[in-house]
Amino acid sequence: MKFFLLFITFIHLCILVSSTPKGSNLYQRPSCSISDPFPIVFKEEYKGDINFLVIGDWGQHGPGTGQTPVADAMKTWADKNHTTFVLNLGDSFYQTSNASTTNVTDQVDHEGVLSKDDPKWKSYWLDVYGGQLKNVRWFSVAGNHDWYSNVAAEVDYFWDNDSRFFLPSLYYVRKVTFGKDISAVFIHIDTDPFYYNYTAYTRENNLKATLQEFNLYTYDQITARLNWIEQQLIDNQDADWLFVVGHHPLVGDCGLENTAQSYLMYLIPPVLAKHNASGYFNGHTHELSYMAPSSSSGVAYFGSGAGGATLGAGCANPTWSAPFTFGFLSISIPEDGKILSFEFVKANSTDTDPSVIYSGTINSRKCS
Ligand SMILES: *[C@@H]1O[C@H](CO)[C@@H](O)[C@H](O)[C@H]1NC(C)=O
Ligand SMILES: *[C@@H]1O[C@H](CO)[C@@H](O)[C@H](O)[C@H]1NC(C)=O
Ligand SMILES: *[C@@H]1O[C@H](CO)[C@@H](O)[C@H](O)[C@H]1NC(C)=O
Ligand SMILES: *[C@@H]1O[C@H](CO)[C@@H](O)[C@H](O)[C@H]1NC(C)=O
Ligand SMILES: *[C@@H]1O[C@H](CO)[C@@H](O)[C@H](O)[C@H]1NC(C)=O
Ligand SMILES: *[C@@H]1O[C@H](CO)[C@@H](O)[C@H](O)[C@H]1NC(C)=O
Ligand SMILES: *[C@@H]1O[C@H](CO)[C@@H](O)[C@H](O)[C@H]1NC(C)=O
Repeated sequence: MKFFLLFITFIHLCILVSSTPKGSNLYQRPSCSISDPFPIVFKEEYKGDINFLVIGDWGQHGPGTGQTPVADAMKTWADKNHTTFVLNLGDSFYQTSNASTTNVTDQVDHEGVLSKDDPKWKSYWLDVYGGQLKNVRWFSVAGNHDWYSNVAAEVDYFWDNDSRFFLPSLYYVRKVTFGKDISAVFIHIDTDPFYYNYTAYTRENNLKATLQEFNLYTYDQITARLNWIEQQLIDNQDADWLFVVGHHPLVGDCGLENTAQSYLMYLIPPVLAKHNASGYFNGHTHELSYMAPSSSSGVAYFGSGAGGATLGAGCANPTWSAPFTFGFLSISIPEDGKILSFEFVKANSTDTDPSVIYSGTINSRKCS
C-alpha cells in the first residue's frame, strides 16, 4: 500500500469549533453550514503515481441492479492496481422500489439515507465494496437522490462515523501532491442547485425544501458558488492538474444552455475553459461517456454514472458513450505527472474480469 498522509492547513474563513474528534475522524467540524464551501484546503501526499477510480450512481442496491458486478470488478481492479482513492460522483443511496415519490417515513426503503445511523451505510456501501476499496477514501459529492431524504446526514456520517466517506461539506477542495512534486487539485462541488430550476420545480418537494433550507435556491446564492469555483481555479493556476468533480453532466450538449432541465449548469463550462481546468467528472446520466478537449475548450469531460443503474439516454453529441453498460472509470497519472491515462471499464455481469471499452490520454496543463 502506498504511503498515505492527509493533513490540513489552518486557513480559517469561518470559526472552527473545538470538539473532540469522533470515530476515525482527524478533523474538527467547523460551525459553517454544509452549503458553505469548506474553509480549508485538504492536503494529501502520495509517493509515486496516483491511480483512482471514478464511480457514480451506484446506490442502486439489490438483485437485477449493476451494483454488485461493478463492485466486484472494481475490487479486482483496485487490488491489482493499488488504487489510491475513489471519486464518488453521488447518488450513493437510492430507494429500492421504483416508487416515484420520496417516502422519508418509510424506514426500510427510502431515497438517500435518513440519518448517520441508517442501516443503508452498511448494506449499500460497507458490505458491498471490498478489498482495497475499503482501505481508501471515497471523495464524495452529493447527487439528487442523496438530497431527496437528508443530504446533511451524509455530511454527519463523515464527521461522526467514518471519514472514508469523505464529505466534509457540499463544496470542498483537495490539493494532492505526488510523484516528482506534481500537484493535482480537485474542486468538489454540489451541482444540484445549478441543475434544478427551483422556481419551476414542483416534483420531489423534499429537494425543493432542502435547497431552501440550505440557502441554495436563489440566483445570487447559486452564482456565489460559481464565483467560489472560479476563485479556486484562479488560486490553483500553478497546479499540474486541475479537476472539478460534480454529480450533474456537462458532456456534449449537456454543457449547453437551454438543454432540457439543466437550468444554470451552462454557466460552468466557460469558467472551466477560461481557467484551463484539466477535466470535469460527472455522474447522473446512467452511462459511461467522454468528451475530448477541443480547439475552443481544453477541458476533458468524463461521465461515469453507471455504477448501479444503467440507461440508454445520456448527453447528446459526446465524443464517445456506452449506454446500457454498467461500469466505472479508471484514471492514472504517473509520477512524472505529464500524461494522464484513462480507461472506461465495463462490468456488466458478475464476471469479475473487467474489460476496457474505451481509453485515451490527456496532457498536463504544463505541457499542452
Ligand atoms: C488494472 O488492472 C487491470 C486488470 O485487473 C488491467 O487490465 C489494467 O491495465 C490495470 N490498469 C492500470 C491503470 O494499471
Ligand atoms: C414499478 O412500479 C409499477 C407501478 O407501481 C409496477 O407496475 C412495476 O411492475 C414496477 N416495476 C418494477 C421493476 O418494480
Ligand atoms: C411511506 O411508507 C410508510 C411506511 O412504510 C407507509 O405506511 C406509507 O403508506 C408510505 N407513504 C407513501 C406515500 O407511499
Ligand atoms: C454512527 O455513529 C453513531 C454514534 O455517533 C452510531 O449511533 C451509529 O450507529 C453509527 N452509524 C453507523 C451506520 O454505524
Ligand atoms: C426557471 O423557471 C421559471 C419559472 O418557470 C422560468 O420563468 C425561468 O425562465 C426558468 N429559468 C431558467 C434559467 O430556465
Ligand atoms: C490556457 O489555455 C489557453 C488556450 O487553451 C492558452 O492560450 C493559455 O496559455 C493557457 N493558460 C495557461 C495559464 O496555461
Ligand atoms: C448490460 O446489462 C444490461 C442489464 O442486464 C443489459 O440490458 C445490457 O444490454 C448489457 N449491456 C451490454 C453492453 O452487455
